[in-house]
Amino acid sequence: MSLSLRVIDPNFPSYTITAEKNDHASGIEALYDRCFGYGRFAKTAERLREGNVLLKKLSLVAIDSEGLVIAAVRLWPLQVGETGQAVFVGPVAVDDQYRGSGLGLQMTNQCMELAKQDGWPLAILIGDAGYFSKIGFKRISTDQYSAPGYVPPQRLLALDLKDHALSKIEGPLSVPRAAKPEE
Ligand SMILES: CC(C)(COP(=O)(O)OP(=O)(O)OC[C@H]1O[C@@H](n2cnc3c(N)ncnc32)[C@H](O)[C@@H]1OP(=O)(O)O)[C@@H](O)C(=O)NCCC(=O)NCCS
Repeated sequence: MSLSLRVIDPNFPSYTITAEKNDHASGIEALYDRCFGYGRFAKTAERLREGNVLLKKLSLVAIDSEGLVIAAVRLWPLQVGETGQAVFVGPVAVDDQYRGSGLGLQMTNQCMELAKQDGWPLAILIGDAGYFSKIGFKRISTDQYSAPGYVPPQRLLALDLKDHALSKIEGPLSVPRAAKPEE
């Protein structure tokens, strides 16, 4: 995918939204450290990212005029049950001084469009329902979609991307076998 969108908003310095590239990685890690702190690695969501392989062409970053990463949304493949597939969304983060215009929601929405175009049936995330419900995410059951660790029931959310996938795909969430490095 080739996408690069320069955004000029009178309330913020301008920035460009683009697909994630290898050289954004350290800027993204620094952004996540600023937004979540180091405690982020202890979260259940991290158990679904470690050993996984980022879907880079479906992940987006926003870059300021000096090349600094000021927002990021990442997508990962997930296995659901034995045969189901979904994208796992996150972390979603926007630098402090760029919050207030819904940039995180806008970028997540764009990622959902890319995932849909790429044929993914379902998106799943662990996050605030009050925030992500604004772009259509709904609560799903932590019993039907168990994760490797505790997930507060109100924070497990999903969005159908194709053919009412939620009514067909169900089961424990895990890192796809193909994504895991050889043991
Ligand atoms: C969450 C975050 C990405 C939102 O940034 P943003 O997209 O710029 O969002 P905005 O501040 O413009 O808020 C957009 C709307 O969502 C609401 N909102 C923002 N954060 C929210 C939250 N945590 N829960 C519920 N609603 C929230 C705002 O009130 C606003 O609502 P409105 O449009 O009705 O006024 C940003 O605050 C952030 O990076 N936080 C730290 C990291 C984090 O918690 N990420 C999400 C977890 S996956």
